[in-house]
Amino acid sequence: MSRDDQNRNHLGQRMMLRYSASTRVNHWTMALSFILLALSGLAFFHPAFFFLTHTLGGPVWARILHPFIGVAFFLLFALMAVSHVGNNLPIKNDVRWMKQIKDVLANRDERVPPIGKYNPGQKLVFWLLVLCVPTLLITGVLMWRPWFAGYFPVTIVRIASLLHALAAFGAILTIVIHIYAAIWVKGSFGAMIRGFVTHAWAKHHHPLWYDDHVKRERSRPSTDAPTRRDEPIA
Ligand code: HEM
Repeated sequence: MSRDDQNRNHLGQRMMLRYSASTRVNHWTMALSFILLALSGLAFFHPAFFFLTHTLGGPVWARILHPFIGVAFFLLFALMAVSHVGNNLPIKNDVRWMKQIKDVLANRDERVPPIGKYNPGQKLVFWLLVLCVPTLLITGVLMWRPWFAGYFPVTIVRIASLLHALAAFGAILTIVIHIYAAIWVKGSFGAMIRGFVTHAWAKHHHPLWYDDHVKRERSRPSTDAPTRRDEPIA
């Protein structure tokens, strides 16, 4: 079986890798912890949301667990941010893509400038999270009782709690947009669940990334010789 045959789905469409298994596990662990943090955080924010403390086993457990999950979430996010930063740097075509947003939404591909692995909207989400997530960690540690808050003047702790709420609001809004965009662009969920996208999807949504992939594939030595999977079973 050739490498090309191995990279086809059950419909015979050619597939390419978008997210490795470790990236996907990291992403979904981060998504789950973010939901738990947002719900328990809202419960602390206003009495109307108090019932949400049950997502972490009641008010006492919610108060204990929220900061620990926050630290774990930050570490997972830092891993993802470091590995994704290269693909989220702005390129020249991003500005033109933004200006042609009507053509993007109407699928008028011929008028849309080619973009790389991420579109400018995804890059904006990335950078907003890079702003909000470390802010959440720093301000969270500043007001973490009984471990750290006692070391800082009360004014600092108060400012920290205000900034924590603002950063949380920003992060929740950003993630709502992120989820909406993921639902809207058919094929994105498949990418983050199974790891693969079709060549047609990549060419349509991220042409420069697709071109890069094709170039890399062409420069790899051919594996048309029989593979272990073709060997007859003795
Ligand atoms: C909770 C529900 C979430 C859903 C349903 C979701 C869905 C997705 C999907 C489908 C992709 C693939 C997009 C593509 O490759 O075109 C993706 C990528 C990504 N996700 Fe999420 N995600 C969620 C939460 C989060 C959270 C909490 C974070 C970080 C704080 C995050 C950060 C990212 C990043 C950095 C990428 C790669 C770049 C991008 O598409 O923006 N996601 N997500």
